[in-house]
Amino acid sequence: MSASPDNTELPKLTIRSHHKDSGKEITFDAPILNGGMGVGVTGPELAAAVTREGGGGVLTGIVLGYPFQSILSKYLDKKPYEANLLALQEWIHDAKEKANGGFVGVNLMVAVHDFKELAYTSAKSGVDLIVAGAGLPMALPEVVSKFPDTMIAPIISSVKAARVMVKRWVSKGRPPDAIVFESVHHSGGHQGASVEEIMSGANQPQEVIGGVRELLDKQGLTDVPVISAGGVWDKNDILKHLSWGAGGVQMASRFLLTNEAGAEFGGISVFKKLYMENKKPAILERSPAGLPGRAIETPFSSRFAFSNIAMKNEPHSCPFVCLVSCDKKASIYCILDHLTAALKDNYEEGLFFAGSNIGNVDAIKEVLSVKELMMRLISGEPASTTSNAAAV
Ligand SMILES: Cc1cc2nc3c(=O)[nH]c(=O)nc-3n(C[C@H](O)[C@H](O)[C@H](O)COP(=O)(O)O)c2cc1C
Repeated sequence: MSASPDNTELPKLTIRSHHKDSGKEITFDAPILNGGMGVGVTGPELAAAVTREGGGGVLTGIVLGYPFQSILSKYLDKKPYEANLLALQEWIHDAKEKANGGFVGVNLMVAVHDFKELAYTSAKSGVDLIVAGAGLPMALPEVVSKFPDTMIAPIISSVKAARVMVKRWVSKGRPPDAIVFESVHHSGGHQGASVEEIMSGANQPQEVIGGVRELLDKQGLTDVPVISAGGVWDKNDILKHLSWGAGGVQMASRFLLTNEAGAEFGGISVFKKLYMENKKPAILERSPAGLPGRAIETPFSSRFAFSNIAMKNEPHSCPFVCLVSCDKKASIYCILDHLTAALKDNYEEGLFFAGSNIGNVDAIKEVLSVKELMMRLISGEPASTTSNAAAV
């Protein structure tokens, strides 16, 4: 990672639908998608701005009904899952409008109860791409089969998981349109591996990207790009991941440091301040989702860090029954409450997910507009930029 401008031109990225009834194909001028950040961080403002600047804007689509309840009174009388669908529909329409009809993707977690309904609603509302992780989205091709132009991409963290996905989807006559690889060593939020697996050092990006590329090529799926996520902060990182065989990158943590991130919830200033000021490595904390989560070290995440052997379950109510894996009574805490607390600027109780670059003191940490950030990602950082520059 460095602040030097690089004149190498980034290649375009093309994603096409492999549904038998579709000829849809989208080419991005810049091979950059923003990663979905739940709950509520990547809304229409951010996603649309990424698309307008030549990349692919991706909304988070999970449990929107819960944080929305406090600001959109019209959803208050709706049942929880119905509120999720209404909020998602509204975000998709809003993002499409702000993107001038351009690309809008949605990120969904397989681990939520209403995954299938959210996927169906996303497709029906006209999203261009569904990126689905936190579990393997085995049934996704069937769920959206009536919408040939909705492209679909599973998130995987190992060649083994990619093999399972490709085999299953090809057997259903619907190969993936892209594969998103999330590195368990770098990406923010929930990880697709146990702490022991992460600590073993297995599944490094270079190895998995190359392995998945080979797997796809052997199947004749040479036009299916591998989109690499985790630890990508600047243009040099993008070029590195492309040199390993990725067709594009998915970046999340750096996009959190934009004016547009969390705009629908007041701008998430505490989240951004923490990103700017943090100098400690990200930690792995326990999540009721059953997977480790990578987060900034704060009072809350420290209580549930894997390094904290004295961890105690926290008494809590279950406001929304969001996760399939979560046992209302026995779960260690309510993740929805603590993710929402982060969205609402509550430093003490918030769970602030972040990728590995959060502990990198050399990373440039400024809150920029998406326009300025995309310009820097495409052209390289301006020579005058210094590390950890401006304040929020
Ligand atoms: C605050 C935050 C929330 C995230 N939420 C989700 C999510 O809801 N679903 C998901 O698939 N990935 C989620 N991620 C992972 C990102 O989409 C992305 O793949 C990953 O963070 C990339 O690594 P980077 O942050 O180093 O760029 C989240 C990441 C962050 C930082």
